[in-house]
Parts: sequence; C-alpha cells; structure tokens
Amino acid sequence: MSDPVSAQKSARPAVFRRSFRKTFPSAVSGEGIYLWDTEGKRYLDFSGSAAVNFIGHGVPEIAAAMTEQASQLEFAHTSQFTTPVAEEYARELLEFAGENFRGGAVYFTCGGSESVETALKLARQYQVEIGQTKRYQVLSRTQSYHGSTLGALAVSGNKRRREMYLPMVREFAHVGIPYCYRCNYDCTDGCRNCGLEYAAELERAIEAAEGEGAAFIFEPVSGATLGAVVPPPGYLEKIAEVCRRSGVLLIADEVMTGMGRTGENFAIEHWDIAPDILIAAKGLSSGYAPLGAVIATKKVVDGIASGAFLHGFTYNAHPISLATGRAVLLRLQQQNLVHAADSGREGSVAAKLERSLSGLLDLKTVGDVRGIGLLQGVEFVSDKQSKKPFAPGLNFAGKVGAAALKRGLLVYPMQGCVDGTSGDHLLIAPPAVITPEQIDWAVEQLRQSIEEASR
Ligand SMILES: Cc1ncc(COP(=O)(O)O)c(C=O)c1O
Repeated sequence: MSDPVSAQKSARPAVFRRSFRKTFPSAVSGEGIYLWDTEGKRYLDFSGSAAVNFIGHGVPEIAAAMTEQASQLEFAHTSQFTTPVAEEYARELLEFAGENFRGGAVYFTCGGSESVETALKLARQYQVEIGQTKRYQVLSRTQSYHGSTLGALAVSGNKRRREMYLPMVREFAHVGIPYCYRCNYDCTDGCRNCGLEYAAELERAIEAAEGEGAAFIFEPVSGATLGAVVPPPGYLEKIAEVCRRSGVLLIADEVMTGMGRTGENFAIEHWDIAPDILIAAKGLSSGYAPLGAVIATKKVVDGIASGAFLHGFTYNAHPISLATGRAVLLRLQQQNLVHAADSGREGSVAAKLERSLSGLLDLKTVGDVRGIGLLQGVEFVSDKQSKKPFAPGLNFAGKVGAAALKRGLLVYPMQGCVDGTSGDHLLIAPPAVITPEQIDWAVEQLRQSIEEASR
C-alpha cells in the first residue's frame, strides 16, 4: 500500500519531467499560433515549440485525418504489411523532396533521433553492400546536434548534451563548422574564403580516416546548437563535392530545417546541393504525431543489393502518424506556407520577422541576429565590441526565456554557442501562419524580456 504521508511530503510529480527543479505550466489546448494552460493563460508560440509546429496548432483537418485512419486501421507491423497510406505518402514526399530523389525510397520513423540512427545504419549497409566493407566512420561537425540516442549523440557535437555520455559512444572525427560571427578564419572578404577553409578541414578528416569514411552528416543551417547560423557562400557546394569525390555519403539532417521552415521545401535547395540521404522530422507532422523520415536517393536504395535493410522499429511507418503527415503536407501546400516562410520574398511573414528581429540589435546585449526564413537566432553578449559572452552560470538566455514566458511568449533559449559551454542565444521559429501584427507584439515582448534580463 502507498504511504499517503510520504507521498505528500515529496512533492515530486509522477511524470519523469525534463527537470524536477523547474515548474512547468500544464498545456491543455492550442489554436493557430497560441497555446493555453490549465490556468487559462495564453502563450504565443514564437519558437514553434522547438521548431516543430509549422502549420499552426489545433487544425481540425489534421485531427479528422488522424481519426479517420485510427478508425480504419490503427496499426499493422511492417514485417507483415505495407499500407496504402505509407505507399501514397512516400510517393508524395519523394515528389516534395524534388528531382534528386526521383526513384528513391522513404523510410518512416517516429522522430528525428530514430531517423538519424536509421540513416547512419543505412549508410553503413550501403557501403558494405557495394563492396566498401572498410567504410564505417561517420564524420560530423563540432557544434552540431543530431539527436539524443547514443548513435545520434556520437555524431553530434553539442558538448552540453553529450559530455556525460561520451564514455558510452564510439567517436569519429568532428570538423569545424562555419560560424561567421565568431569565425576561426579570415572573414573579411564577405566569408568567401572561410567556407572553403572549413570544407578543407572535412577533406583532411576524410583522408585521415584512411578509407574508412562511410558518411558525413550535417545540418544545412545550424539548429539549436548555434542558433540558425547560415553557411557562407560556396561551403555546402564544396563539401558536397568533397564527399562525392571520396565515396563518402552525404547525409543532410533537415529535422529542423526541412518541410518549408527556411522558405524552400528543404534548406539544401538554397544551395542546390544533392545529398544521398535526407532526414526530416519535426515539421513533417508539425507535432501532431511522432513522425520522422529518411529519404534515400535511388543510388542508395539500388546499393542495397541484398534487398533487405537490416533495421526496424516496431512503430516505423505507423499508419496514424503517416495519415497525420499526409494531412500536414496537404495543408502546407494548400496554404502556400513555404512561400510564407521565404524571407527572400518581399511581403512574406518571414521577411517581416527578419526585419523586426534585426531591430533588437540596438539593445546593448544583442550581439547578432541571423537566420533564414522562419528559423532565426538572436545571440547575446556582455560586450558588443569584443563579443564577450556572458558567464555561463548566469544563464542569460534562460533568464530571457523565463521573462518571456511570464509575458506569454514562448522562445527556445540555448547556451554553448561560443565553445560548447559559454555563449547564450535564442532560437525563434514560429508557425508559418503568424501574422505581421503578431510578430510586432512578440518582438516587443521579447525586447522587454531582454531588457529585464539585462538589468
Ligand atoms: C537537426 C536535428 N537532428 C535531430 C534531432 C533529434 O530529433 P528528435 O528530438 O525528434 O529525436 C533534432 C532535435 O532537435 C535536430 O534539431
């Protein structure tokens, strides 16, 4: 029998929350760009949760698609069946991913980390099956994040998220990542040179792997770790060429940047590069169901000559998640949301967001505002001239986040952009249905929150 006295004494909740030190509001409903808690307080979702929601909350058509699928067929195991929803959705996604993926195939998972694990194993099996049995190393970049499972953490560079688990993971080379606000190289020529220097680091790492390099994984635009850092001109084109030349598969992790968030269907389209494997999650279902996808080119699928990928999850290609993803894709196409997220298009809400956030640069603690489309970052400094970060213990970004929450504004605070430990920034990634008036309100609240944290 439970002891009511000791249960009362420990106020600890039964849910194993992200933190037992923090109190969380309890969310009960959502509509458009807003969420509400049990107290009736409204929050403007300026970060799309964690760059997840793209189509807006509470869209009835999505709930209807989920219900319809659940009432027809809730589940069938992928070792026994395929389903009409999986076949149709995979065709639609290949089409959405563009010409480079014609004749390819889509492997469905339940999220970003599962998709990264899947891509790593697919790359290895591909290399083995084409006779490159020595190739198993997956190279990646220092300030990056690819997920929280051990394989995904091994190829991530986010120090805070992986340090404790390092003894448990197999480490491969991590190369530098272009971060022009704090560049390691000479950035005075508008970043024409530094991108090539960073690409040369990858070339050297592949050589040092002595024929054991299987793949290179990267985020086209840095997500949470650096906060929407856009690569310099020529960089991605060069790494794509280096990988192709060395027989190393190119894996674009578009968990955060995919499905329209940056103003193209996938961010790689801004640089016209052609990865061998493309990973999507987050915006794929806009958060309505757990869903991820690994989109492989024809070359990779053809390479699995045995015809069977040695991998699987019980819940991969779950019919309800897939019906959700299909309805989300239809919604974002019908509502032209990729256009709304195009910051290069005059009059788009993304252009408005970029302009409004840039206005924060007059604050003494805002060092940099950067990003593309509806994925923007705001970096804080204690001194603008020297770009000196705040002491990590101050948790400046967390303070801004808490001040914003108080005002009914959700943002995504992060630390570690400078060196993995210090450096504070916010990620701003609202749903694409946000209006210019809502952006004005949100940026004003953010300004007040930054001022409050700076006092
Ligand atoms: C680029 C990237 N890859 C992978 C992941 C992991 O995705 P998930 O949290 O859905 O497992 C994330 C999550 O933030 C991400 O941003």
